[in-house]
Amino acid sequence: MSSEQAEFWDERYRGEGFAFGTAPNAFLASQARYLKPGLHALVPGDGQGRNGVWLAQRGLVVDSVDISPLGVAASKELAKARGVEVNARVGDLLTWDWPVDRYDVVAALYLHFFDSDRPQMHHAMLDALKPGGVLILEAFSIEQLEYKKVHGSGGPKIADMLYSEPKLAAVVVGKLDGFGFGIQHHAAAALRSRVPCG
Ligand SMILES: C[S@@+](CC[C@H](N)C(=O)[O-])C[C@H]1O[C@@H](n2cnc3c(N)ncnc32)[C@H](O)[C@@H]1O
Repeated sequence: MSSEQAEFWDERYRGEGFAFGTAPNAFLASQARYLKPGLHALVPGDGQGRNGVWLAQRGLVVDSVDISPLGVAASKELAKARGVEVNARVGDLLTWDWPVDRYDVVAALYLHFFDSDRPQMHHAMLDALKPGGVLILEAFSIEQLEYKKVHGSGGPKIADMLYSEPKLAAVVVGKLDGFGFGIQHHAAAALRSRVPCG
């Protein structure tokens, strides 16, 4: 499965230009209040680096991991062009040795897994946070299947890889006692904070 993912994304990133542009994801940018200089951020599935590079430009110390060698190469080029450092590595998040209690911010944007893998991945993201850290996550919801028919937009074609509020909630049950968690809008964008609610 993972080598298929690497080939799929390498194919997407082959050629000129940036598949998702070089501007940061809008939801990530809207969470700027959490993104202070000097914080340590992990960007899993950073693709061609638009989000990791933007975080580095804000002064965060950024590690990123993506399964696509071409994506990681593009990230490094973008970082160089912007005059910042991103520790971008090729890796499969499903088998990666996830750190624990290391990051102030984990930013997972449009990173999709099969239902069978997603809980493990989300637990790894939450466990990678230091106390007080924040997970910023945006992904396509199940509604995207219908929406894309009308609007011709992208995203996974199979329901198994799409998000829903119950799926997200099920994953974080038992992980969030005393912490804030919110589904920000219908597209299953979620922000989870390990800062106590309030
Ligand atoms: C839709 S793209 C989003 C890229 C980037 N987050 C952005 O917003 O521009 C999904 C990315 O997740 C990466 N990815 C998917 N499965 C992965 C895995 N198991 N390990 C590491 N990266 C993975 C892909 O290579 C791809 O770059």
